[in-house]
Formats: sequence, C-alpha cells, structure tokens
Amino acid sequence: MTRTVYLNGDYLPEDEAKVSIFDRGFLMSDGIYEVTSVLDGKLIDFDGHAVRLQRSLDELDMAHPSSKDDLLEVHRELVRRNDITDGMIYLQITRGNPGDRDFAYPPADTPPTLVLFTQAKPGMADSPMAKTGMKVISIADQRWGRRDIKTVQLLYPSMGKMMAKAAGADDAWMVEDGHVTEGTSNNAYIVKGNTIITRHLGNEILHGITRAAVLRFAREAQMQVEERSFTIAEALQADEAFITSASTFVMPVVELDGAAIGTGTPGPVATRLREIYLDESRKAAV
Ligand code: PDD
Repeated sequence: MTRTVYLNGDYLPEDEAKVSIFDRGFLMSDGIYEVTSVLDGKLIDFDGHAVRLQRSLDELDMAHPSSKDDLLEVHRELVRRNDITDGMIYLQITRGNPGDRDFAYPPADTPPTLVLFTQAKPGMADSPMAKTGMKVISIADQRWGRRDIKTVQLLYPSMGKMMAKAAGADDAWMVEDGHVTEGTSNNAYIVKGNTIITRHLGNEILHGITRAAVLRFAREAQMQVEERSFTIAEALQADEAFITSASTFVMPVVELDGAAIGTGTPGPVATRLREIYLDESRKAAV
C-alpha cells in the first residue's frame, strides 16, 4: 500500500515526496525527530512529544516550522488518510536546504524541512515480547554528549542494534564511566524489591516521554522510584529489568549479557506498569 506522507505543507504519495540532496538533515544530520504512538486511532502523549520537540529545536537554534495545534492536525490527518489503528507517526525537522554544503548554519530565514509519515503496527500493544521478555547486551556508549536532544544522528544506536543482533540479543544497554546510560532507543530500568531504579535526567540520556509517564504512574501506585545511575553488576543482581519507549511502551528485560535477571521471566512490576501505562495512555489519548 502506498502511504500518504506529509512534506512541507503537502500530503503526497510516499514515492512523490522528495527532499534536496543539499538538505542539512542529509548532509550534516542537522535535524531532530519525534516518534508518537497511535493506539485505537488516537495519539499517545502528543503534548509530551510536542514539548520535547520544542526543546530540541530551541537547543539547536532551529526555527519551529509549525504551531503545536497545526502539528496535531497533521498527525490526525495522517492517521485518517492512512487508516492507522495502531502504529507510529514519525516526525522530522531539519535545518532545510541552503543550496550547497557548508558547516556554518544557513541564514535563519532558510525554510526548515518538515516531514511526517506513518508506520502501521497492527496489534502493537499485544506484542508477544511483552510475555517472553527481551534479551540485552551491554556495549560502550560512544554517542555524542547531548543525548537529551533528539537528533537524527542515529548511527551509533544502529551499530548497537547490529551488535545485539550478532550476539543473539534484542537490544543493547549502553555503558559510560561504568554506569548504564540507556538502551539504543529506549530508557533502561532495574527493580530491586519495591524500588524502581532508572538513571537521572541530564545530557547523557534522552528524556523519555514514556519514562516521565511511567514514573508518574509508579509513584501514584505507591512504588518507590530512585532516579540514579546503576552498573551492569547491579543490574545482574536485580529482581527485574525493563525498558520504556513510545514504540515499546514498557517491555520486560529478562537477560543481560547472557545471564538471567531475576527469574528470567517478565516480573510483576514491569508487567503491572505496562498494564497501567497502556490503560492510562489510552484514556488520555487524543
Ligand atoms: N526512541 N532513549 C533513546 C536513545 C531513544 O531513542 C528513545 C526513543 C527513548 C525513549 O523516549 P520516548 O519514551 O520519548 O519514546 C530513550 C524512539 C522511539 C525511536 O527512536 O524510534
């Protein structure tokens, strides 16, 4: 099926949407993105993604090509036109096409490039992996120092996913100065007793929108939350582990570097948090 995608104000068949070879996103990875989930045809945590999008743009002195309300309308229109029940909407903004290659930013009036497209994932909330759990390996974190900005420089996360695949695992947790930063495309958590431990916010990790929601729900359910870094050794001694992201929600991690975590099956805390997250997010979806 040919998708309808959005490019700079136009809804187009995907094979007719074209971006210049001089686009800063293509030549310099000078762009940012967001991924918003769709469940039952509605957007999950659109406001959270819109706020983080604005922050990423501000941190890079990039102009916002659209208002939040207009962006919401584009998201909804793409859901309608592509008949999406469950899936994701990918949004990318780059510093546009200055007409040549140059390290310096182009003049501020250079129009940014705004692209959105849908990815249908029928039954996404019933992923079989939520029942079996996932396997992760640890790798060195070799990304740049501003991981709080959601840029399209995703080569190292791609390499990390390939390292995981080569090792027979599903994903990789990245380690810097002896502590886990996050997963290649998700935030990382361990559980010890009734306490959920996840790295504190800073420039070292992406400030996950799912993370913020899950920690809020955990606290509301009287679970203890500690926002601090942890080591691989501590994770191996944990009762449970899990990840969060817009595309996986809450996903249990049952194996780390070939060793079982806890019982080696999805734990009660991760399982409960996944249920709460899905229930509450569906209720608040727009
Ligand atoms: N990834 N950390 C990293 C490095 C990420 O790339 C992501 C999201 C997250 C979780 O953020 P959120 O809860 O807002 O999705 C954490 C998206 C889903 C992706 O690249 O596809």
